[in-house]
Amino acid sequence: MKKHYSLFRFSFATAFGGLLIAAMSSCGKRDANSPGVEFFPDMYRSPSLEYYNVHTVDGDTVYNAMHPVSGTVARGYIPYTYPNTPEGYEQAGLNLKNPLDASKRENWEKEGEVLYGKFCVHCHGATGAGDGKVGGKLPGPPPAYDGALKNLPEGKIFHSITYGKNSMGSHASQLTAEERWKLVVYVQKLQGPKTTGTDSTAVAAPVATTTTK
Ligand code: HEC
Repeated sequence: MKKHYSLFRFSFATAFGGLLIAAMSSCGKRDANSPGVEFFPDMYRSPSLEYYNVHTVDGDTVYNAMHPVSGTVARGYIPYTYPNTPEGYEQAGLNLKNPLDASKRENWEKEGEVLYGKFCVHCHGATGAGDGKVGGKLPGPPPAYDGALKNLPEGKIFHSITYGKNSMGSHASQLTAEERWKLVVYVQKLQGPKTTGTDSTAVAAPVATTTTK
């Protein structure tokens, strides 16, 4: 009797389980792509909001990570306004001056040296002679700071670090503007004292009396 009872229980459980599975699984006939009964459909069908867009979710309007209003500037960020053109380069040479506090120049020089060791030395070499291990392998190795670049004004140094020049890439994404100015100070140390007050590297100086410090 006990045996019969457990057999009955087993068949009942199997039949019930089968029915349950049948009920939960897809009916399949109406729509071949239908997954059938879904528990927690939100987990299968999340709203999947596209960013930078406006959506309607359950009747509510949702603004999802909107673009900032055009012309928005992050707090404390001063945009670099000289364009990446030959004219922008010359203009930077004429007008762009180091905004760092000149009385702390020694500090900037030291910090610039550290940055130089991380970002520049492999191309420009320890003394800025253009003999870094990578620099020597470039089609046009970097000129020496105290040679061809001796009288390069600070604005142009900053401009070239920001945008890059020929085989030298832009460093604007790796270095903040402040760090780039610290590097300018260190590059100026490697340039040594200028031999001329004028920008000897100018292609076409718009003003004949241009002077740089
Ligand atoms: C991949 C190698 C490479 C790296 C890294 C590199 N440079 Fe240069 N750099 C060059 C080359 C090559 C030139 C010469 C570009 C030309 O005039 O054709 C150059 C030119 C320059 C000039 C002269 C720009 C001008 O206006 O004539 C300055 C200043 C300079 N680099 C500074 C730096 C500083 C500072 C760093 C580190 C943040 C740096 N470079 C990193 C390869 C490099």
